[in-house]
Amino acid sequence: MRSPKDFFRPLAIGAPEPLREVPLTPSRMIHFFDPSNPKMVAKVPDLAPKVDVLLGNLEDAIAVDAKDAARAGLVEVGRTVDLGATQLWTRVNALESPWFLDDVTTLVAEIGDALDVIMVPKVEGAEDIQYVDRLLAQLEAKAGLDRPILVHAILETARGMANVEEICLASPRMQGLSLGPADLAADRRMKTTRVGGGHPGYLVRTDPGEDGAIDAEHRTTAQQDLWHYTVARMVDACVTAGIAPYYGPFGDIRDTVACEDQFRNAYLLGCVGTWTLHPVQIDIARRVFSPEPAEVAWAARVVAEMGDGSGAVMIDGKMQDDATFKQCQVVLELARALAARDPELAEAYDL
Ligand code: GLV
Ligand code: MG
Repeated sequence: MRSPKDFFRPLAIGAPEPLREVPLTPSRMIHFFDPSNPKMVAKVPDLAPKVDVLLGNLEDAIAVDAKDAARAGLVEVGRTVDLGATQLWTRVNALESPWFLDDVTTLVAEIGDALDVIMVPKVEGAEDIQYVDRLLAQLEAKAGLDRPILVHAILETARGMANVEEICLASPRMQGLSLGPADLAADRRMKTTRVGGGHPGYLVRTDPGEDGAIDAEHRTTAQQDLWHYTVARMVDACVTAGIAPYYGPFGDIRDTVACEDQFRNAYLLGCVGTWTLHPVQIDIARRVFSPEPAEVAWAARVVAEMGDGSGAVMIDGKMQDDATFKQCQVVLELARALAARDPELAEAYDL
């Protein structure tokens, strides 16, 4: 057992003090790049202003013989490229892999001051986060860093899902969680081979007709969201811990329409952003994870007319009270944070 007052003490002598609040920095798109590919590394300076987060991927999708090159490529980016206000994250290899230890020791020593967040895949319980927490503290102390590197966990095993609350609460370093629908589907033995998105077989159907006929053609169906439960549970766990939930990858790069739908479902349920795997997904994420100007204008109007937020008023026939005042504050708070980063949005929002 650990006393709550010790929670914010550094876990190694000389390590920076843990943060008490996770910074609310815009992170609508976490754009993945392969640091072992020199062509992709060359594009980083142009890409940086277009995204909120650039993530150097070291884990899955990086071939075994490219692991060292990916780590070295990321060190090069961290040392040489000025990313401006864009955050630099990495996804390291899994804890049981032969690369995790070298990933973390190299990155903290070489570019710890440039790295904002380390994404840890296949996290299964609080013990995984506690291990990473202590290790990072030791490495930060050794590197003389003055601010802690934050940790982001990917939810991609059934055990990780079962332990999602304790994972979120395991350390003040926890920045957020992402859904890993491909690994999670495999681990749960779900019968989908897609990376995120729905499935035409997962549906509900209207009742048989009045004549009792059960034939399929005369009964409409609607495809359901395969990830609804998982995303909703993840959002609740994150909010409980004061950290941020994200959708993960959408693998069908050509299907920009379904990608936008999946992103929007996650946004409406409370996610703050998503992964983008291809440049075509960047604009989709920006559009979806930035509130509509009309929604922002409405929220501003409700807040203005509600005054101190107490009581009830009717605006355009819609009842407003303390709860809707809070809902509108959520939209306005996000709009303000995004407007501070994005001059186009600042104009559109008129804030
Ligand atoms: C992401 O890592 C996934 O497994 O979906
Ligand atoms: Mg995965």
